[in-house]
This record gives sequence, C-alpha cells and structure tokens, in this order.
Amino acid sequence: MDTEGLDEIAVGAEGSVYRTEFLGRRAILKVRSPKGYRAPELDSRIRSLRIRSEARLIRDARRAGIRTPMIYWVDPAAGEMIMEDMGGETVKKHLDEHPEDADAICREIGRDVALLHNARIAHGDLTTSNMLISGGKICFIDFSMGVSLAETEDMGVDIRLLERAFSSAHPNLTHAYGELIDSYCRVKTQPSLVMDKVREIKERGRYT
Ligand SMILES: Nc1ncnc2c1ncn2[C@@H]1O[C@H](COP(=O)(O)OP(=O)(O)OP(=O)(O)O)[C@@H](O)[C@H]1O
Ligand SMILES: [Mg+2]
Repeated sequence: MDTEGLDEIAVGAEGSVYRTEFLGRRAILKVRSPKGYRAPELDSRIRSLRIRSEARLIRDARRAGIRTPMIYWVDPAAGEMIMEDMGGETVKKHLDEHPEDADAICREIGRDVALLHNARIAHGDLTTSNMLISGGKICFIDFSMGVSLAETEDMGVDIRLLERAFSSAHPNLTHAYGELIDSYCRVKTQPSLVMDKVREIKERGRYT
C-alpha cells in the first residue's frame, strides 16, 4: 500500500503505524519494514510470518473474551495489516493524567490478562503503552511478540514485564498493581504456577 500522505502515528525499529481508511471506516495500517541486513527472500518470509502471526493472535485474543481491534485486511507478502481504529488513548497516558482511575483499570487489566493466559496466549510485550482505553474499556494491541500455545514461562514473562512497566512508568501506583495481581489470580487457572515462575524469573535476572 502506498503510505504517502497517510498520517503516521508511530515509527519503530520493526515497522510503522499509520491512520487510514478502510471501506469508509477509520482504520489503522501497520507495516513491518524490510530489513536490509537480511537476504530479501528470507526477509519477506519473516515479515509475512510475523504479520500473520500478529493478526491471528489479535483474533484469538478476541475469541478468548478480551477487547482487541477487528482485523480488516492482511497482506502477508507486503508485511501489512489494516485493523479497526480503537480511538482513545494509551493506558500509560490515561494513568499519568488520571491516577485516581488506576485501581479500577488495573482490576480490568488483571482479569483480561488472565483470560488471555487461560486461552494459552501470551502477549509478549505487556506494557501500558500497548493497551488503549476507549469508551471506558481496555483494549489490547501490539501482539507482535505474542505466543500461542503459551507455557507457564511465557506467562511469567508477561507478568514480569507488567511488573517492570509499573515500577518504571507508574512508580506511584504500587497499590493498583497489587489490585491487578489479585484480579489476575482470581481469574487465572492455577495462578500459583505463574506467580512462582515470576519469582524465578526475577531471581534469574538478579544474577545475570
Ligand atoms: N488499532 C489501533 N487503534 C488505535 N490506535 C492504535 C491501534 N494500533 C496501534 N495504535 C497506536 O499506534 C501505536 C503503535 O502501535 P503498536 O504498539 O502496534 O506498534 P509498535 O509498538 O510500533 O509495534 P512493534 O512493537 O510491533 O514494532 C500505539 O501505541 C497506539 O497509539
Ligand atoms: Mg507498541
């Protein structure tokens, strides 16, 4: 797709995100950019696998009961997908501006991550920048590092990432983070397996 003239929202190492339209609806275009250091054929195969995997995880996550954008269109060969524009703002921004909402938001995040994990999906990049809040509801985006058929280890990594995101981006919201974990443990099947893994991952990190 020709991205000239589109409104660019984010440019990262792995790709770019633009605002666009799809069949008359506001939509988001995500493009995985080619990597010059990879042989072209291998590169296009990798980009195609990644974008298909992200689109599939976004769909599977919705089936597991959490809010994610509708996928409108995927072009694996071009490494592109178009999805519903959820509007709203990132949870990061919302928490910075409305810390008073933190407990309620965190309870919702905890429940949603548990639903995701119960469906054996790990997000892989769980930060408050990869969650949106729109119309008062939490929506998960950016499943580019996600894992299907997730193991306890993958889930532990998710929770550890969240914990780090809260301690670095939201250091004043430790109470809310506690609410998140309580809510996660109420909904997750066998939560102690994951929480033990989180402790193990932390211990590992301390010595490496
Ligand atoms: N479906 C969507 N609706 C609304 N805004 C979105 C949507 N998808 C992405 N965005 C906006 O674009 C930003 C970047 O998107 P995303 O997190 O998917 O890309 P990224 O972090 O650059 O990706 P990657 O980690 O795969 O390189 C988000 O923080 C959000 O503001
Ligand atoms: Mg992101």
